[in-house]
Amino acid sequence: VEPDAAWRDEVRRLVDQRDAVLLAHNYQLPEIQDIADFTGDSLALSRIAAESDKSTIVFCGVHFMAETAKILSPGKTVLIPDARAGCSLADSITGADLRAWKAEYPGAVVVSYVNTTAEVKAETDICCTSSNAVDVVASIPADKEVLFCPDQFLGAHVKRVTGRDNIRIWAGECHVHAAINGPELAERASADPDADLFVHPECGCATSALYLAGEGIVPPEKVKILSTGDMVKAAKATQARSVLVATEIGMLHQLRKAAPEIDFRAVNDRASCRYMKMITPAALLRGLRENKDQVHVDPETAARARASVQRMIEIGQ
Ligand code: 13P
Ligand code: SF4
Repeated sequence: VEPDAAWRDEVRRLVDQRDAVLLAHNYQLPEIQDIADFTGDSLALSRIAAESDKSTIVFCGVHFMAETAKILSPGKTVLIPDARAGCSLADSITGADLRAWKAEYPGAVVVSYVNTTAEVKAETDICCTSSNAVDVVASIPADKEVLFCPDQFLGAHVKRVTGRDNIRIWAGECHVHAAINGPELAERASADPDADLFVHPECGCATSALYLAGEGIVPPEKVKILSTGDMVKAAKATQARSVLVATEIGMLHQLRKAAPEIDFRAVNDRASCRYMKMITPAALLRGLRENKDQVHVDPETAARARASVQRMIEIGQ
C-alpha cells in the first residue's frame, strides 16, 4: 500500500463512514500524522478522545494510549490499527508488581505515568503524562509519601523540579529514550553551541542536559526538558536557528512543520520506536475496512482506572 492520493481518499472516506475521529501520536510515521484529525502528545490526545462526540476513536499510537481512550469512553468503539503495538516502558511494571510495592508503603500516594497498562492504572491514585507529571506530584500534600512508576528518568526529573524527598521511584525505562545518552548529547551540543536542546524527560540524557547547563557548557536557557507537545510549542517560540532534539525521531516531522526555518536534528538518529512504527499506512487502511483491532478493557478494571486518568486530565489544564 502506497500512502498516495488514493490511499488518503479511501482512509478519509472510511473515517467518515465509521463516524470516527482519527488520532495520531507525534511519533507516528509522517504520512499517518498528516492524515489524522489531530496529532499530539499523550495528554492532548487523551483529552480529545474524551471530548469527541464521534462514536469511534481510531488511535494511531501504541496500545496503552488506545486503552486510555477506551477507559475514558467505555461506550465508544476504540480501534488501534495493530494491537501488537506495545511499549517497553508499560511492560516494565505489572499490576502484581504494583500491588506488592504498595503493600510495602501503606498510605503512600501512587502516581503512574500514562505509559502503563489498564491493570496498573486501576491500582493508581493519579496518572500523569510527561507534560503534567510535575504538576501532578506538586498537587499532593508535602507530608504524603509518593510512589512514582514506571519511568526512572521522568521520576528523577520530577523529584529534581519539585525538590521532594519523600518520593520513591520505580526502576523502569523506555528502551528508545534510555538509549539517548549523555556522552552523545554532550558531543552534539559542543559541536553546535548555538543550538537549543529539546530533551524528553524519559531520556537517559535528561540529567546530563541539566549537568551541561549547570556547568556552563551549554547556556541554561537553551536546555528545555519537554513533553512532545510542549516541544512543538517551544519550536514556535524559540529564536534559535538550530535545535538538537532528544526523543523518538518521529517527532522531527511535527517540529519541522511548526517551524520550517529552523534546522532540527536528532541527538540520536537511531531512536526509532518499533512499536509506534507498526502503524503502517496498510495497517490503518485494513483496520478501517475491517473495524479492528478493537480495544477491550474489562469493565471493572476500567472503572477503577478511570478515576486516576480523570484526575490526570483535570490537573494542569
Ligand atoms: P508524550 O507524547 O506524552 O511526551 O509521550 C512520549 C512517549 O514516549 C509516548 O510513548
Ligand atoms: Fe513506549 Fe518508548 Fe515506544 Fe514511547 S517510545 S511507546 S515509551 S517504547
